[in-house]
Amino acid sequence: MPRALHFAAGYMANLGILAALAGRGDTVFSDQLNHACLVDGARLSRAEVRVYPHLDLAALEDMLAGCASPTKLVASDAVFSMDGDIAPLPELLALCERHDAWLVVDDAHGFGVLGEGGRGTLAHFGIASPRIVYMGTLGKAAGVHGAFVAGDEALIEWLVQRARTYIFTTASPPLLAVALAASLELVEAEEHRRTRLAALVGRLRKSLAGLPWKLKASETPIQPLIVGDNRAALDLAEGLRARGIWVPAIRPPTVPAGSARLRIALSAAHSVEHVDELAEALRALSGAR
Ligand SMILES: Cc1ncc(COP(=O)(O)O)c(C=O)c1O
Repeated sequence: MPRALHFAAGYMANLGILAALAGRGDTVFSDQLNHACLVDGARLSRAEVRVYPHLDLAALEDMLAGCASPTKLVASDAVFSMDGDIAPLPELLALCERHDAWLVVDDAHGFGVLGEGGRGTLAHFGIASPRIVYMGTLGKAAGVHGAFVAGDEALIEWLVQRARTYIFTTASPPLLAVALAASLELVEAEEHRRTRLAALVGRLRKSLAGLPWKLKASETPIQPLIVGDNRAALDLAEGLRARGIWVPAIRPPTVPAGSARLRIALSAAHSVEHVDELAEALRALSGAR
């Protein structure tokens, strides 16, 4: 992309982008399962916020078609943080083109993991457009801290001038830049980490198949095991923890009521043995129910 801007955190980047690009009289369209910082950014912008059902492009199209705002912004996680599913970005982009809207993509969980060279979900789909505002975080796959927004030259200049979460905070220290430069080289060069991560995802899905709880459909390293009941999810997380395995139990309001889950997040630093150990522990705990 032509230009990028570093932010102190992904949270700050999303607040900055949405409040700088939209204002009173404008409309932000937001997927129902978007991360809290897109939700908060949309609120902060003072634009009207229209929430569409998760990945329901027909509903989004109806909303866009009926909207007369001068600036329209569609905001979506690229990889949803609690479900691990991937937004159909080519179709979202086509909708934005038809209705002259910006597409704000939060790729916190795709950058470094998906696409050639770990370039993220846009690369995964092979799409590019001057109407895409691309946000990637640097504290997850990149293993450091902070975030960046990339896009069209004029868009980034606008953010330099208008994004309050960029302007009114102290710039990140040079040591972070040095660590990030080294990290980005590894992200780009070490494809074997992504190959291994993908293999771990496949192994996990296969080995959890016979359990009483079901994994949600996800091809990313975020693998939610749906338990349903809050107490049962907490007990399961506790049981794993007692076996030395840390998997957080995610409950409402972070996820919809009745869908408490273990949010399994794999990393390239995990081994096949780790995955097998987790599967074994879950099998043992399912017998103990
Ligand atoms: C989808 C998503 N966007 C943004 C963020 C915020 O990024 P940061 O931790 O850099 O503030 C997170 C999680 O932290 C996230 O999961």
